Order: sequence, then C-alpha cells, then structure tokens
Amino acid sequence: MNRATSEYTSYMNKNSVSIEILIEKFKLLPHPEGGFFREAYRSTENISANALPSRFNGDRSFSTSIYYLLPEGKNSKLHRIKSDEVWHFYLGGSLNLECIDEKGTVHKIKLGQNIEAGEELQHVVKAGHWFGASPSSNSGFCFVGCTVSPGFDFADFEIADKTKLLAQFPNARDTIHRLL
Ligand code: GUN
Repeated sequence: MNRATSEYTSYMNKNSVSIEILIEKFKLLPHPEGGFFREAYRSTENISANALPSRFNGDRSFSTSIYYLLPEGKNSKLHRIKSDEVWHFYLGGSLNLECIDEKGTVHKIKLGQNIEAGEELQHVVKAGHWFGASPSSNSGFCFVGCTVSPGFDFADFEIADKTKLLAQFPNARDTIHRLL
C-alpha cells in the first residue's frame, strides 16, 4: 500500500453512529412508506402546472431532496411517484432496492459502499415504476438520500394495493409479498 493510499484507509469505518442519533440529529419523522425521513431541500422556484406533463395536477418545486433512514427489519413499502427519484447512499449497511417496471419485470439493485461487489452509490428509479427497499441482514440500518425533480408532492405518491399489484404483475409476486 503506498503512502497516499494508507492516508485514505485511516478515514475508513469512522461512521459508527446509532439510529437514535440519526433520528435526533436530522430531526427525522416516520414516513408513510416505512422508515424515517426529513426533507433537506426544496427549491424556492416552481414549475407551473401548464409547463409540466399532464400527470402532474399542479405546480411543483424545481427539485426536492430528503434524508431517509431505514432500520434493519423494516422496509419501504412498494410505492410509486410521478418523477424520477435519485437514491444516494450515505451511511450504514447496504440497501436492497426492488423496482417493478411497466412490463412487470423486477429489477434488484444494491445501494452501498461495496462497489467491488457491484453495489451502487447512486441509483435512479424511473417515474411510474413501483419500488420499495429493505436493509441487508446485519446492516443495522441504511441511511440514504432521495432527490426528486420535479419536486416531491404527496399528490404524486401512491402506496401499492397488494391485491391489485399481484393481479397485474403475478411474476413479481416474491417482491410484492416481501415489500407490502
Ligand atoms: N418527501 C416526502 N416523501 C418523500 C419521498 O418519498 N421521496 C422524496 N424524494 N421526497 C419526499
């Protein structure tokens, strides 16, 4: 290991922080999909409804972002929104993201820092795809960020109905049973 590399290794694994500290420091609140969140950014500028695709029912902020914490053993229920959502990995263990596209194909992504094992630091979930997430075993928790543009509005957010989704996408049954 050369000198430059050893300087960096000394910065590894210094992130030991508890779920309680994260909830307190980031003032996180329960999210309807599961887990805890707080909006960290909301653009002060708006896009007017008539400049947006017709699926949006009103004006939206240019962009928003949240901190999102998912304790191990909890999951983010399958839901969808009307904008693309960029997930960013911050702290904790890896997060299993499961997305169901418009054809019912399931895409599984691991968000995390083990990039040599194929984990991703960022992942984009496409607008309209159903998606949910669960922390890997022994992760303790996953702490991530989610950025949305046009900005998030609960009018654009829908938690899936299990019976309807199973009828529409029977091939995705394992994901649906796991995340609803
Ligand atoms: N604001 C409130 N909930 C959410 C969410 O699920 N995603 C994003 N990006 N912003 C939110």
